[in-house]
Amino acid sequence: MPATTLARFQRITPQQLRAFEATARLLSVTAAAKSLYVSQPTVSVQLRELADTIGEPLFEPTGRKIRLTQAGEVLYKTVRELAGCWQRFEANLAAINGLESGRLRIAAVTTAEYFVPDLLGPFVTAHPGIEIELAIENRDRIVQRLQQGIDDLTVMMMPPHDPALERMVFQQNPLIVIAAQAHPQQGKAITLADLANERWLMREAGSGTRMAVEEHFQRLQFTPNVVMSLGSNEAIKHAVAAGLGIGVLSEVAVCPPPLQPNQPSTMAPGIAMLTVEHFPCVRHWSAVWHKTNPLSVAARAFIAYLQHR
Ligand code: PGA
Repeated sequence: MPATTLARFQRITPQQLRAFEATARLLSVTAAAKSLYVSQPTVSVQLRELADTIGEPLFEPTGRKIRLTQAGEVLYKTVRELAGCWQRFEANLAAINGLESGRLRIAAVTTAEYFVPDLLGPFVTAHPGIEIELAIENRDRIVQRLQQGIDDLTVMMMPPHDPALERMVFQQNPLIVIAAQAHPQQGKAITLADLANERWLMREAGSGTRMAVEEHFQRLQFTPNVVMSLGSNEAIKHAVAAGLGIGVLSEVAVCPPPLQPNQPSTMAPGIAMLTVEHFPCVRHWSAVWHKTNPLSVAARAFIAYLQHR
């Protein structure tokens, strides 16, 4: 800003601009004074000082009323722009504060426990003031929480078909067939029919993994010989490693990301992936929320982070 402009701008006070804005809007000094709870002479003085600083008359008489001069019109437009600019500043400030403190409640299905904490790492480092609450439950219970509006965001593979929900897909979720390391079909390319006589181990009813596997098999018209339902990914892995049967799990549960960033991810001990036609069955991870619930600043920031990772 040139020095003379800056000097002129610095002589203008917020009170003068307020008096001018009210007078320009109401086209009456008396009404402006009343709306600002000050006396009429106070407004008149502020308007005169403002006009002196600008070097132009801002109002002119028209009959018994007043109207803006051309310079007054330009100043009125500028003052409204300044007000808009300030409002944007206030909104941005609120957004920054929202990211400096506050809570982000995330609910995730059990399988997401293998990668959601890793996902949170960089976000938490960037926003150390945000307190994260992470609830992990199986799909059925997560859907209940979603219906009750308990959490800001939900991470799941199979969101319910509900038009009131918004979803953002952010990552693939391949489901793979696993068997004990010593399984005779290990290392061969096989068909589902080759596994017709196997003992299949399934996640419990209410699990999203089970739902996805059942849907997949139904589409392929394959009926597995299910001999056992187990309530967690870990239980399935142990049972498979012990040779109790074969199963389908999310790859991330079988081959979780390493705890140290530079290490390779390794298969859970005693388990091998079978190379079966129609597998991996590729599903996706989504962040889900209610369209009508206004998202908190922290939730919006987390969605943007998931999107642009
Ligand atoms: P699960 O759910 O961990 O309960 O199997 C997976 C999902 O629904 O995304």
